[in-house]
Amino acid sequence: MAQGRFITFEGIDGCGKTTQLRILAARLREAGREVVETVEPGGTETGRQIRKILLDPANTAIHPRTELLLYFASRAQNVEEVIRPALAAGHLVLCDRFTDSTLAYQGYGRGLSAGIVHDLDRVACQGLKPDCTVLIDIDIETSMARAKKRNQRTGPEESRIDEEGSEFHSNVRRGYLEIAAADSPRFLVIDGRAPVATVAERVWEALAAHV
Ligand code: TYD
Repeated sequence: MAQGRFITFEGIDGCGKTTQLRILAARLREAGREVVETVEPGGTETGRQIRKILLDPANTAIHPRTELLLYFASRAQNVEEVIRPALAAGHLVLCDRFTDSTLAYQGYGRGLSAGIVHDLDRVACQGLKPDCTVLIDIDIETSMARAKKRNQRTGPEESRIDEEGSEFHSNVRRGYLEIAAADSPRFLVIDGRAPVATVAERVWEALAAHV
């Protein structure tokens, strides 16, 4: 049976990965590819319900281990219901965040051990790993300014993690860069401070060999 490709997009809040994923999906479809877009947390009806709990700023009492399990609960459902069937049908799957987000945010950000994240990844993803990961890197000042602007525009209902301070976000960024350096064949690290069209061109060129 045909086997598709699994490509994930990662980066700190406001890095522009969602915009870039959409531009890439449209371009690949124009080129005749079957593309499935999905997102974490979310991607399925169950995942969307879990996402509401995770991102609601009113949920101030969520413990880091509860948060960790909820991200993986959303992921397990997404893998089972959306990602694996699409890959089995030979489609290209573009996923907005995956386990590298958990390593960066819950590992480097919250201080949970990478070992626990890898153990839960085995349970939730059953061995599924991205073929390629696009990391859009920006500095913390740009990230915080963009997140603030977005929350002013859309309201604060999805801002629980955005509202963490600059130290948390710096740790997450450092985490991403370390994770990428340790697994460099899988990662494409792209500077996200350039104009959207320039970043999109770099993503396209970098991914050409992978899709
Ligand atoms: P998302 O909606 O992608 O936010 P943004 O558009 O700002 O990138 O993701 C929601 C938040 O959830 C984001 O702050 C990162 C966080 N997150 C984790 O902490 N761990 C995870 O495993 C995932 C998937 C996301």
